[in-house]
Amino acid sequence: KNIAIIMGGYSSEYEISLQSGSVVYKYLNKEKYTPFKIHIFKNKWVYVDDNENEIPIDRNDFSIVVDKKRITFDCVFNAIHGTPGEDGYMQAYFALLGIPLTGCGFYQSALTFNKRDLLSVLKPYGIKTAKSYFLNKGDVINEEEIIKTVGLPCFVKANRAGSSFGISKVNAKEQLIPAIDTAYKEDDEIIIESFLDGTEVSVGVISYKGETTVLPVTEIVSENDFFDYEAKYLGKSQEITPARISSEMEKKVSSVAKKVYEVLRMTGFSRSEYIFVNGEPHLLEVNTTPGLTEASILPQQAQHAGITLSELFENAIEEVMV
Ligand code: DAL
Ligand code: MG
Repeated sequence: KNIAIIMGGYSSEYEISLQSGSVVYKYLNKEKYTPFKIHIFKNKWVYVDDNENEIPIDRNDFSIVVDKKRITFDCVFNAIHGTPGEDGYMQAYFALLGIPLTGCGFYQSALTFNKRDLLSVLKPYGIKTAKSYFLNKGDVINEEEIIKTVGLPCFVKANRAGSSFGISKVNAKEQLIPAIDTAYKEDDEIIIESFLDGTEVSVGVISYKGETTVLPVTEIVSENDFFDYEAKYLGKSQEITPARISSEMEKKVSSVAKKVYEVLRMTGFSRSEYIFVNGEPHLLEVNTTPGLTEASILPQQAQHAGITLSELFENAIEEVMV
């Protein structure tokens, strides 16, 4: 079976995606699958062969021509973080072409990638969140009102971004406007949330052999002020699996994560983040294309559950090819 591994993307997360895609390529069973590395960038969609030659994709049917032979794909493995792989665009494109794509569907991807809309959809289901305030580019910024709503410290985030790009912690009023400017570099929508003081955990939920499966919970201990880019990717954090929390807390957060997955009718990978406040998990966000390198959280969790990376990636393909 020909598998196109799509990686790159149009957002600041493209470098991380290239790493995730390469790891998927490395671990896919070559006896069962023929994987192709496909780079998706704003200015080019190309197949990159073993000699780094770039062969353009025909976007009408997502095929390539190699040695005068047209190659089509049986399945596409999504390793794009951020737009257009995690926000529904690629999901809609491949759905219209009728080519199976690993992971979540179009609507679930679009919804979960929008932090504001995700949190408001989940609220009626009893999912707890931080207090929040929203801004669209061009809105009048009322600093008093923002601080009255969310308090200090608070977090200013791009509404639709990943890997902590555009996020700042604001400790004092005069830091608010610079933080908003930073977030607007990533997105023209902003979410400002109250600071939640407590243990942070990350919960992977996947569909595995047809069953919704909650993976062992990971505790995030950041050396930095919060789990920012440096903490995530430059070693300035400890990610401890299984988390050092009581079994009651573990059960609670696992059941919340499973509920989120099922309420939204998600499929494929998901990794959601929570902070415990007074023993109650508060949802920060849901990622549908989590990092897939050997050092990334979800692959670590899978390995703790006895699932190898080869099995994890193969399962993602088999889930959508039935
Ligand atoms: N957005 C990054 C890749 C993650 O969630 O792991
Ligand atoms: Mg994220």
